[in-house]
Amino acid sequence: MSLQWLFPTPVLQVDLEPDAETVAAMNVEMESFDRNVFLHPEFSDRNNLTGDLLGHAGLDQLHRMDAFQWLNQRLAEQTSLYLEGLLGPKHGLEVHIQKAWPVVCSQDGGSIELHTHRNAQLSAVFYVRTEAGNSSGEIEFQAPDDYFSHVMAIPYRDAAVSGGMFSPEPNRLLLFPSDLRHRVMPYEGQSPRYSVSYDLAITTASGQGKEMRMPHPMDWVPLTMFSS
Ligand SMILES: [Fe+2]
Repeated sequence: MSLQWLFPTPVLQVDLEPDAETVAAMNVEMESFDRNVFLHPEFSDRNNLTGDLLGHAGLDQLHRMDAFQWLNQRLAEQTSLYLEGLLGPKHGLEVHIQKAWPVVCSQDGGSIELHTHRNAQLSAVFYVRTEAGNSSGEIEFQAPDDYFSHVMAIPYRDAAVSGGMFSPEPNRLLLFPSDLRHRVMPYEGQSPRYSVSYDLAITTASGQGKEMRMPHPMDWVPLTMFSS
């Protein structure tokens, strides 16, 4: 008899190698965010800052800044490898950045509660500044816990959690399905930790729609066009 755990989740982890100039440029933008946004009333009682919460202030459009063009390129390469590895070279899909935002975890226990990114299909995190060898502030991925637990108390979630912890390291990129629940464990360090999150949408190529796949946004027609 053997148990076969189904529904494995593919998470890509790669340690990138930006040059010193690229690292410095990203840090300048993150430090500016840390310095200026912390004053915002929405963050007065938090131990983290996430630009996503302030999308109305344009802070979810980090990918449009010069400092993050290098990271956009690496993300494009790695996402392509991820999709090809899962679906083969002829998958015909296109990936779009929906939004990207800065995240600061304070040095005295900064954490992020369990959540998913319901608006996206793939999400990524890149650690701009974290202390090498500091194992706190891991990201933990959790399997769904309601698939069978309403029938029997199967400790599947425990099993999944044991393999679902990823250590932050400087310049490490993680790419994962957006509906996978995740959280950030408390970070303890000498200085705040900086990371960047991306939400990606996966569509067909323009004019190449397929059943059950989201068509390319160029194929969409805003309904407001027909409003009087
Ligand atoms: Fe997240």
